[in-house]
Amino acid sequence: MKRRSKSPVVHLPELDGVLPRYTREESQLIPLLQEIQDTLGYISPEAMQVTARHLNVPESSVYGVVTFYSQFYLTRQGRHKVKVCQGTACHVRGAVEIIRAVSARLGIKPGETTEDFEFSVERVACFGSCALAPVVVIDEKVYGNVTPEMAVRMLDELV
Ligand code: FES
Repeated sequence: MKRRSKSPVVHLPELDGVLPRYTREESQLIPLLQEIQDTLGYISPEAMQVTARHLNVPESSVYGVVTFYSQFYLTRQGRHKVKVCQGTACHVRGAVEIIRAVSARLGIKPGETTEDFEFSVERVACFGSCALAPVVVIDEKVYGNVTPEMAVRMLDELV
């Protein structure tokens, strides 16, 4: 049974152009969250409230989806997302050194975001491009046969 959210009404002006594009059906939950994340950079507690209200579903359902799927972030992410594959093929071909170089260059560990919100770094499982190992994905673009030096150079080009 659907329940309306009991939280105080929150308004996020950034989402004024987003919400009207989605019908008020539960089936819209994931696509709406994806667009909210594209807009805000993450799914804030307020965004979860707004989503629940718009779709007339409990906030707990929204929270459940956001925390279930690794594509959603609960904290603000950097403008550039750097994902270093830690799958077996990439691991044996130097992924650890890449992570070390990227972390040293940005001053953050995997799972963290730089203070200026320019970069977030993540360790991820196999991208399915093992023939290109080691693989780094920056802002959804896949780079293969990456060396630590190349990774640092790619970051420098984005600064
Ligand atoms: S192990 Fe890295 S792409 Fe498969």
